[in-house]
Amino acid sequence: MKNIVILISGRGSNMEALIAARDAGNLPVNIAAVISNRPDAQGLEIAAKAGIATHFIDHKAFAGREAFDAALAECIDQFAPDLVVLAGFMRILTERFVGHYEGRLMNIHPSLLPSFPGLHTHQRALEEGVRIHGCTVHFVTPTLDHGPVIIQAAIPVLDGDSEDDLAARILLQEHKIYPLAVRWFAEGRLRLEHGRVRLAAALNDRAALISPEPVVTVLENP
Ligand code: GAR
Repeated sequence: MKNIVILISGRGSNMEALIAARDAGNLPVNIAAVISNRPDAQGLEIAAKAGIATHFIDHKAFAGREAFDAALAECIDQFAPDLVVLAGFMRILTERFVGHYEGRLMNIHPSLLPSFPGLHTHQRALEEGVRIHGCTVHFVTPTLDHGPVIIQAAIPVLDGDSEDDLAARILLQEHKIYPLAVRWFAEGRLRLEHGRVRLAAALNDRAALISPEPVVTVLENP
């Protein structure tokens, strides 16, 4: 069974979705540890209650990004993870760190990348007036919220939607697609090859030959 380490900075609802998928038998991984750069991350408590080893490494205690990322990598590597999962880990990572985990570092972001990397994605989507918005799971490159896309879920932006409406509907999708992407990796079906995502169909899984999941909802003309 593959070993994963999850990095968080806050609420940890994506981490919780991964734990729930594991507990439901839908995610064959060992969650070896959850690491946060913030001591008050709510997710740390949730992970500890689930019996998972937790660590906190304060980024403010380090002189710079290189030093923090080196300490973070040292902490992560003691668990020998096959995959490192960024689940609301709000740090810009150094090239060295990203290179060390090439092909085994995933992130989830609340927009349809490459649109709206960075913060305030829902506000920016509303300002731009896009009709379709969503979330993306991708392999990480040194550029913030960028990298080969593994899976995306899209939702319609409805007249009258607020930032909170979008955030809530997209979070539901995040909780579906992240466990799915991690499961593909755990099953050995997903890999990064020359900067491209390769997803092999599952044996005995006819649906996967056609489409992995119906993740896109398109607004019909009202
Ligand atoms: C999620 O919406 C995730 O997509 C986003 O932070 C939130 C964390 O929520 N990540 C990013 O913006 C990365 N650039 P959670 O702590 O409840 O999982």
